[in-house]
Order: sequence, then C-alpha cells, then structure tokens
Amino acid sequence: MAATGQIDTVMHESRQFPPPADFSNRARIKSLAEYEAMWNQAAADLPKFWADLARDELHWFKPFEKALVWNEPYAQWFVGGQTNVSYNCLDAKLAEGHGDRLAFLWEGEPGDTRSLTYTELHREVCKFANVLKKLGIATGDRVSLYMPMTPELAIAMLACARIGAIHSVIFAGFSAEAIADRNHDSAAKLQITADYSWRRGKALPLKATVDEALAKSPTVEKCIVLRRGGKTGPPAPMQAGRDFWWHELMQDASPECSAVPLDSESTLYILYTSGSTGKPKGIKHTTAGYNLFSKKTFQWVFDHRDDDVYWCTADIGWVTGHTYVVYGPLSSGATVLMYEGAPNFPDESRFWQLIEKYKVTVFYTAPTAIRAFIKWGDQHVKKHDLSSLRLLGTVGEGINPEAWMWYHRVIGGERCPIVDTWWQTETGGIMMSPLPGAIATKPGSCTKPLPGIVPSIVGEDGKPVGVNQGGMLTIAHPWPGMLRGVWGDNARYKEIYWSKVPGKYLAGDNARCDEDGYYWIMGRIDDVLKVSGHRLSTIEIESALVSHPAVAEAAAVGRPDEIKGEAVAVFVTLKNVEPTEALRNELKLHVRKEIGAVGQPDDVRFAAALPKTRSGKIMRRLLRDIAAGKETVGDTTTLEDYTVLATLRGDEE
Ligand code: WTA
Repeated sequence: MAATGQIDTVMHESRQFPPPADFSNRARIKSLAEYEAMWNQAAADLPKFWADLARDELHWFKPFEKALVWNEPYAQWFVGGQTNVSYNCLDAKLAEGHGDRLAFLWEGEPGDTRSLTYTELHREVCKFANVLKKLGIATGDRVSLYMPMTPELAIAMLACARIGAIHSVIFAGFSAEAIADRNHDSAAKLQITADYSWRRGKALPLKATVDEALAKSPTVEKCIVLRRGGKTGPPAPMQAGRDFWWHELMQDASPECSAVPLDSESTLYILYTSGSTGKPKGIKHTTAGYNLFSKKTFQWVFDHRDDDVYWCTADIGWVTGHTYVVYGPLSSGATVLMYEGAPNFPDESRFWQLIEKYKVTVFYTAPTAIRAFIKWGDQHVKKHDLSSLRLLGTVGEGINPEAWMWYHRVIGGERCPIVDTWWQTETGGIMMSPLPGAIATKPGSCTKPLPGIVPSIVGEDGKPVGVNQGGMLTIAHPWPGMLRGVWGDNARYKEIYWSKVPGKYLAGDNARCDEDGYYWIMGRIDDVLKVSGHRLSTIEIESALVSHPAVAEAAAVGRPDEIKGEAVAVFVTLKNVEPTEALRNELKLHVRKEIGAVGQPDDVRFAAALPKTRSGKIMRRLLRDIAAGKETVGDTTTLEDYTVLATLRGDEE
C-alpha cells in the first residue's frame, strides 16, 4: 500500500471535467462513443488490431508474417518482419516531405540554443552511425550512454538504432558505482558521455564520474566524449587510445549510412530500473512492437497535430524520455522542445519563460514538479503568456487532486485538458490515460485503458475484484510495447511479472476501478519507492548502507513528502560505533556515492535494534508509521519496545 496517503485523498474525489467542445471537435478521437468503439473493436481481436496499425504506421523492409506469437511469458510481435526504428523516425519523415520541419528545438541551461530539422537530424545520425561503425560497433553490441539532455543524446540513440546496436542510457545523476554495475551487467563495449553537464549554474563533471566507472568496466573498450562544458571547467582528462572527442570523430564522418533492416524482435534498448529485489534490472525493449506502441500512444494521448510544439520535461535517462522525448514524437514527425537544466535556474520562472518563448502547445511533466511550482508561487507563472498551451499531461506517480486543480487553473487557464498517464518502464508506453478529446477527466484518476490494452484488477486469489474494490493491477493480454525480458535473467522476468497471477502481467501497483470504469492507482504492492517520480528500491538503499563499515543492519522506508511525494527514511543499527551527527551525514553521502543523488536518504535514524516479527522479518509498516511521524520515537530510544506494541496491534507482516 502507498505510504503517501494517496488512497485517502482520491477516495472521495467525484469532480468531472468533460473535454472542451472546441478541443473535441478538432481531436483525433472526438467522443467517448468513438473511443469505446475503438476499444471494443481492438479487444475483439487484439493481434489483428495491432497488425493493421503496424502495416500502416511502420516502414517494412520485409513484411511480417504473423502479428503475435505468445508463449507465456514470451511475446513476439510482427514475426518475420524487418524494419528499423531510426528509419521510421527519420528517413520515413523525409520521404513524407517533412525534411524541413523542426525535429528538435533545444535550449541549454546557460541559455545557448540550437534547432535541428528532420533533414539535419538525419544527417547527424547518419554521421554518428558511421562513427560507431568506425569504432568497431556492430549490430547487437551494447553501447552505454551517460549524457546531459542535449540533442547529441538523441542522436547517439538513433545512431545505435540505425545499425542495430543496443543502447543502455544511464541517467546522468547516477554514481560511478551505478554506471559500472550497469556496464558490467550489459557487457557494454562503448561508453558515450560529455565532459560536463549544466545544473543550476554549475558544470557537473560527467567525464570524471565516467572515468571512475570505467576503471571498473573491463568490457568497455572506448569512450566518446561530447564537449559541453566548453572552456568553463578544467579540461576533462582524456586517456589516449581509449577516449575520443565527439566533434573530432564527426569531422570527417560520411553523412551516408543506410538503416540496417532489423528483425521485428531485435533488441532496441536496455533500460535499468529498480525492482523489489537486488540490483536494478535491465528492462529489454525490442524494435517493431515498441516503435508502433510509442508512436500510436503518443498520437492518441497527446492528440498530436503537425503544428504542435511539444515539450516533455523528462530526462531521456528515464523511460519517459526514451518513449516521449525521442521515439514516439519523432516517429510521428513532431517538433520537440528539449531543455537541459533545472526548472529554477536562473529563477523559478524558467519553464514558463520557455513555454512563452517557444509557444509550446503540449506540456508533459511530473506531479513532483507541479508540487514544486505550487510552492514557488503563482507569481512566476503570471509573468508569462501561456496562451499557446492546449494540452497538459502528467506521469510518474499519482497526482493529488489539489495539485491537479492548480495545474488545471493556473497553467491550463481552465481550458486545457489534463492527461494523467499511467505506465511503467516495463510497459514501454502509456497504458491508461484520458484521450483528451473523448474522455472526461476526474482529478487523480488515469481514467481508462488505451485501445488494445486490457487491464484486470485481481485479488490475492487471482480472481477479478468487484467495482471499487482495491486489488493488484494486471494486464490480461500482451501488447506490442511490453518488455521482452530482463537482460540476461529469464528467471527473474518470470518470477517478478508472471508467477503471482498466472496468465497475466503483474504491474506491481494496487488499483481500483470505479462505477464509471475509471481506474485509480493506489501505490505499489512491493518495496519500490517513487522519490520525485524516480524509481528506487528500499533494498538497493539498504544494500548501499550495509556496505558502510559502521553499519550492522539497515531498513529503508518511504515517508510522505510534500514536494517529492515520497522521501527516503532509513533506520540504522551500528557496529560498536557511537551515533554522531558526522556519521549521519557520512551515511547519507555514502548512499549518494553508491547509487547517486536520487538515492540519498532524507532522514537517518539510529536505533539499537530494528523491530522484527517473530519470524525475523523487519516490521516495515511500523517503521513507515514512525518515519511519517504517526508514532513518535526519540532518536536514542530502542525500537524493540515497539515490536511488542506492533504485535499487539496485529502488525505482523
Ligand atoms: C507509478 C514511469 C499513478 C506506478 C513512466 C508505476 C503512476 C511506476 C503513474 C512506474 C500515474 C507512473 N499515476 N502512479 N499516472 N505513472 N506511476 O517505471 O507506481 O519509472 O508502477 O515509469 O510509477 O515507474 P517508472
């Protein structure tokens, strides 16, 4: 159950916001009846529904023979066909006559700007694909990317896709340890990074972090470095024979590079994400199914029009950036705004300034950002003209109705529909969301499944639950964008997603469905936290803590936080060392070093012992209550007494 108290706040929400008539009139899907007809038609024959779309929407070097081969839990979509995602995003757009259209509008945090048309992007991608080939990268090789939000990150991804190399993008806030772990797991051959990245006016030395990681990444042979810091910081150290500057390699690269025809099921990328056990797992996505799903969901949910200026604020290092900054929008020929830095640099009005300057029409962000905007105050928004906006979206965690209402009023001027999109790294794209011209919204609900998606909420017995009853959210039929496995670990793939509820994909969230068929997500069923919308596992944080020599035992839990949604609270028992303020800070920094800034605990509490059940399991529910301040406990009090209290209360987990 969510530690955020989400359930209480959305339980009684009954406000409804129908799509504005002028929006619906121009929308791709114009009414509830149209959506329902589409959903029903899809559900009647799911493979046929997707196959018809795939034939129209993707370029096929070789047509597929079968829509779906399903050997639970392994799905193959569009079997026998050959296509290429980079071709569908670029060459296909040039062939459609859209070469002069802007693909990316980009602004760096210091204010430098760039734009790339589809023709220009195509040329850069071809050149960089030739660079990859020259460095010995071939189809199937893994390439690790640790880069700032720059067009080059997208160029590198598309260049990999062009030659069938598999990219593994690592969010540039992760630590050297985290990079090394991921490089090891994927056996990456090449690293791509930048000298620096800009964040709140500071140049962060990405290359220095990568150097530390590469010392522990024996599979990585070479490293390409983008010059981003310019002359600002000290020059990044370059190791002769291993490290190469991006701009030097590109100088004499040929702009001719045809896209390699790839099997529908060849791997496009690996993206590591936190689960409930052990180290982050490499979620695997493949070519044709993912491409189709990212393209169609982008068009349906964001009601894409050719004259839109679309801005998704997610970093490409997360799945939202993969699907809705790069692959979905580009394969739809969209114009995408990309911004490198923080929303509060040089001040809290930066986002609103960008919307005004670039006349953004569709804006997609995270609830944690919205809560920060609310805190910073309406005055930053009011200074800017946001009348270009026509549609708003959210992703990553539930949005509380109050934040939804603020978004609707202050940013959307009460005229823009809000799409609250539920999905996961594993699902590849949006699974449930309002279609903005068709489905009335209720604040806090992701409303209904997209056409072709069949959710089912089940109880512990695996049977569907009734209206308004909470249960585990599952998906009853494979869909083209679904993960194809966990990199190198079939057993874990089966165990996590397909063992608890036979025949259905287990999402890991609790949900309920109301009398109108609206879905309400009620938080995770496992130990996954959402901290500022970023996915973290409590186990990951605990392992980082116990790797510190002073720590005997550790338990990490989430506690509600006004801005972050969840904050990380840890309880630590020490090995014969005195608890001090200095040690508390050292432990925070230690976790930061092991995982990255996203994992740094907010609270560290020392305890003489952790409360346990009779069978020796840590009583997490009790710890969550204590962390949330529902039970008070002094820093030096032992938690043992609480075990008795919790047992009496029936808290055995
Ligand atoms: C949560 C992010 C409520 C959920 C795309 C899910 C949400 C996890 C929503 C996946 C939403 C995502 N409402 N909860 N609209 N969107 N979540 O892999 O718990 O980073 O399982 O993918 O985020 O997180 P991930």
